[in-house]
Amino acid sequence: MKLIFLGPPGAGKGTLAERARKILEVPQISTGAIFRAAIAAKTELGLKVKAVIDAGKLVDDELTVALVKDRLSQADAHNGYILDGFPRTIAQADALAQFSAVDKVVNFTISDEAVVKRLSGRRVCPQCGTNFHAETLKPQKEGVCDKCGAGLIIRDDDQAETIARRLDVYRAETLPLIDYYKRKGILVDVEAADGIDRVVENFKAAIHG
Ligand code: AP5
Repeated sequence: MKLIFLGPPGAGKGTLAERARKILEVPQISTGAIFRAAIAAKTELGLKVKAVIDAGKLVDDELTVALVKDRLSQADAHNGYILDGFPRTIAQADALAQFSAVDKVVNFTISDEAVVKRLSGRRVCPQCGTNFHAETLKPQKEGVCDKCGAGLIIRDDDQAETIARRLDVYRAETLPLIDYYKRKGILVDVEAADGIDRVVENFKAAIHG
């Protein structure tokens, strides 16, 4: 199954994608995670996008589309994928339609207030990328990743001011994609404010319904 996860920053796209990829046996392709890995490795791509991401703005369409096109050409993505955080603009969606046919677009519904709570408590593993939350999804040992044992950090773009900017950018650039995919008849809503196990059930019902 070829899926897009669409929703505001902090809606839980990455957290659900981590569960859904195991259920569907497809790769999770997160443009944000690819950019963060490039920044950590100080590659040419990383140096190019760091300032944009830290400011809560979007990386330019051409560069992002080329990166996704290349990733989808790899063998593990031929029979299905979860695109987590792409497309984020109408231009990206138009470009994607030229090289891949998506089955469903999963639209995460959640209030701004809940999103801010999730982002301000988020803790991430810089080594394996697993997400935790200081209150709702705590690691077994405080400050330590359950999966690989690395020390957890706060993402640079999870500062209060940057969260507000990312929400503004979401409303201006990404929200129009809801109507775009509704018109194509492939958009399904998933209530994302529930606890993660419930969100998984909401997701299963939405994609199989
Ligand atoms: P990206 O990494 O995609 O960030 P985002 O879309 O802002 O999404 P987040 O990763 O912040 O949130 P999420 O929805 O995955 O939530 P999460 O699961 O972590 O992009 C980062 C940047 O890269 C962008 O700002 C942009 O600059 C650039 N970029 C990326 N893609 C691009 C593109 N296509 N075009 C241009 N630029 C692009 O959950 C959040 C927190 O909530 C966590 O702490 C988690 O533990 C907790 N949580 C999650 N679900 C639940 C639950 N059900 N119950 C309780 N807690 C939960």
